[in-house]
Amino acid sequence: MKPIKVGLLGIGTVGSGTFNVLKRNQLEITRRAGRSIEIAMVADLNVERARELTNGECEVVNDANLVVTNPDIDIVIELIGGYGIAKDLVMKAIANGKHVVTANKALLATHGNEIFKAAEEKGVMVAFEAAVAGGIPIIKALREGLTANRIQWIAGIINGTTNFILSEMRDKGLDFATVLKQAQELGYAEADPTFDIEGVDAAHKATIMASIAYGIPMQFDKAHVEGITKLQASDIRYAEELGYRIKLLGISKRTEDGIELRVHPTLIPEKRLIANVEGAMNAVLVHGDAVGATLYYGKGAGSEPTASAVIADLVDITRLATADPEHRVPYLAFQSNSLSDLPVLPMAEIVTSYYLRMHVADKPGVLADVTRILADLTISIDAMLQKEPAEGETQTDIIILTHQTKEKNIVAAIEKIEKLDSVFGEVTKLRLEELS
Ligand code: NDP
Ligand code: HSE
Repeated sequence: MKPIKVGLLGIGTVGSGTFNVLKRNQLEITRRAGRSIEIAMVADLNVERARELTNGECEVVNDANLVVTNPDIDIVIELIGGYGIAKDLVMKAIANGKHVVTANKALLATHGNEIFKAAEEKGVMVAFEAAVAGGIPIIKALREGLTANRIQWIAGIINGTTNFILSEMRDKGLDFATVLKQAQELGYAEADPTFDIEGVDAAHKATIMASIAYGIPMQFDKAHVEGITKLQASDIRYAEELGYRIKLLGISKRTEDGIELRVHPTLIPEKRLIANVEGAMNAVLVHGDAVGATLYYGKGAGSEPTASAVIADLVDITRLATADPEHRVPYLAFQSNSLSDLPVLPMAEIVTSYYLRMHVADKPGVLADVTRILADLTISIDAMLQKEPAEGETQTDIIILTHQTKEKNIVAAIEKIEKLDSVFGEVTKLRLEELS
């Protein structure tokens, strides 16, 4: 059988990894795919560097339009990133009857509904294993491996950069800016690293997973997004004293009223496996009604780990390219005419446990005032930590862990607590998940 021809858009971190792994493991991959997969054309703005990387083994152009309109190309791999030019190129590739592989979670979380509709109309595949959790085959697991299940919740460390930052700060005492720079040098960070540190990248990935898990359209605009930039070293320390680690988690949950979809720093009991995932590693916990909890762990970013997922998609498409489109696994696991209209819940309605830290006057009655406010709002306390004031100080920190309650109750309680004369400044609120 003649080789399937691939056009690669963008030969940066992931693109070069894809080129190299495909070449290195060509024989194995061909044995699996049933025919050889050949990168016939590469487009990159830096043609010189692209020629060096590809060693004269394929055509190199600087205009990606030449790839997506080339009738000889069967599959286009989009590894440029962003949702400007990348979206135009993906839509053009689909319009020209090409199958598409992309690692671009930003593009799919924001324009996925439109892209999948166009692809379905054209009868082409759009594959995106690399878009979530780098090298971990989590899309395959959610879309196919867990297909018997009614998925109840997903919680994942799905941004390597922020997990790397939190781990290095904790273990080596390095400062935020130094570790972020390291993450950029190691190729983990997005072109705009605020997407990583402000939780946007994790929210893109959580949006994609929620869509596949619950059969809902992509709704990134409804996700709650909170990063790690406001996290205080003292909270990481206090959490540890209470037996918890803080991780940036992407969480989605099915409830009777709708879907929770949120990204934020989260306290997790330190005895959970996922609490011990360090560095740029990712881990995703998926809870299905039949299987129970399953955990997927591996490298969530970087050149070759991500290439591993891109090439898995290439092999899938190669095997299925001649199959009737109706016999393929639906893009988002559920048939496109069977998507659910379950709403994504506003944050006020989500239910979880909380960590509250407040700076208070060290005098009798303060704790009683705080606990009364919580009790009035039916918030029950799970644990408490009161620090001794430093020598000569008259103020101290109180940390309270609550049992589960609605976010709107906690917000109301904090508003009242902050008005107490004996409480100084803002109350810090972090969410806590038992993940049991
Ligand atoms: P890079 O910035 O390393 O690579 C992007 C490449 O695209 C660069 O070589 C860039 O050229 C080239 N490029 C930019 N604009 C164009 C254009 N108009 N036409 C052709 N080429 C262009 O990004 P990554 O490889 O890190 O990321 C690629 C995608 O993979 C992104 O969507 C990212 O979110 C995703 N991803 C990345 C992971 C990672 O670990 N890095 C992991 C999982 C997903 P130049 O440098 O000259 O601008
Ligand atoms: N910037 C992303 C991360 C790349 O750090 O996880 C992988 O998607």
